[in-house]
Amino acid sequence: MAVVKKRLLGGLTAPAFLRQHWQKQPLLVRGALPGFDGILDLDGMIELAARDDCESRLVVRNDGRWSVEHGPFERKRFSRLPRRNWTLLVQGLEQRLPAARQLLSNFNFIPYSRLDDLMLSYAPAGGGVGAHFDSYDVFLLQGPGQRRWRVGRQRDLTVLENAPLKILKRFSPDGQCLMHAGDMLYLPPEFAHDGVALDTCYTYSIGFRAPSHRELMSQFLIFLEERLTESGRYADPDLAVQSRPALLGADMVAKVERIVGEINWTQRDVTEFLGSYLTEPKPQVVFASPRKPLSAMAFSGVARRRGVELALASLMLYGSAKLFINGEAHKIDKATATPLRRLANARRLPGRLIQPNGPAADLLYRWYRAGYIYLSGPGQAS
Ligand code: SIN
Ligand code: CO
Repeated sequence: MAVVKKRLLGGLTAPAFLRQHWQKQPLLVRGALPGFDGILDLDGMIELAARDDCESRLVVRNDGRWSVEHGPFERKRFSRLPRRNWTLLVQGLEQRLPAARQLLSNFNFIPYSRLDDLMLSYAPAGGGVGAHFDSYDVFLLQGPGQRRWRVGRQRDLTVLENAPLKILKRFSPDGQCLMHAGDMLYLPPEFAHDGVALDTCYTYSIGFRAPSHRELMSQFLIFLEERLTESGRYADPDLAVQSRPALLGADMVAKVERIVGEINWTQRDVTEFLGSYLTEPKPQVVFASPRKPLSAMAFSGVARRRGVELALASLMLYGSAKLFINGEAHKIDKATATPLRRLANARRLPGRLIQPNGPAADLLYRWYRAGYIYLSGPGQAS
């Protein structure tokens, strides 16, 4: 594993990469994944882009003017495209393709809580999304074909007004590189870049998430609001006569200040908020429950033989006392913690670690019925 990482990160160990590059400076790795020839072709992308539970975009550049269409797309849309200068982008590959999850597992040295998704772009010669910056860290892994990247650390991040996508008004690159299959470019947030396909070109973006402070605050307030238990009511048995009835009295303001000042939270609340928030499925995600579910007893028997796996779209994290799956929080005790944390980390749980009865088995059965986990295939039993 360490060998793979070293190659993936161009001879750097994961700690050295995090220290020197993560959120700081770009890194170009030649042959990060030698022989990488992609996991999906244009036909497969078009199939995904036709689904309404899959996020996709089509970006076309015509005479320096950009247009963006959002999926789902009918297949025939792709037969009416120019020969050059367009790109199809499909998000969330890891929710649909086991090979995409597998690819993402190379980046497990970064916590799942920071991961966003795997996006794939396809472009004929000249295709790209223009000079822009992303707010998040990204690894741009080159699939089949070649792309020329120009990159720049610029302060001026002003974007074009009235453009349908975020294009930098002024782009002053200070470097460029030609990427071949298996090469990888890491870019920290807000690093300007522009990638143009030289020929038929596939690029994989491993994107990370970093919510804005504003988003964290407002989501946390929603979380707190949902669990307010305070049942007191404003009271003023000491009310004094006020000659100006419209005046918002200082007494009342002080009382309310005291009341709202009683809103409090602990680190445990913050953990619970974060766990639920970060595992909340994206709006388009639908979990498929088994069509003919096994009984709890039959499930337990098969699960202990074959093991279970997280569904591709499932997100699972844990804190010290709770475990989070797809936006739900579950309390865990000592006995359930070990197997369920293993499931969260490895995304699969060998059958030998599943106890026949008890809270872990109950949870696994509930998650199986909800489509959050499935039974490992007979060939995959551990
Ligand atoms: C692309 O793959 O064309 C764009 C990826 C990016 O710049 O983030
Ligand atoms: Co970008």
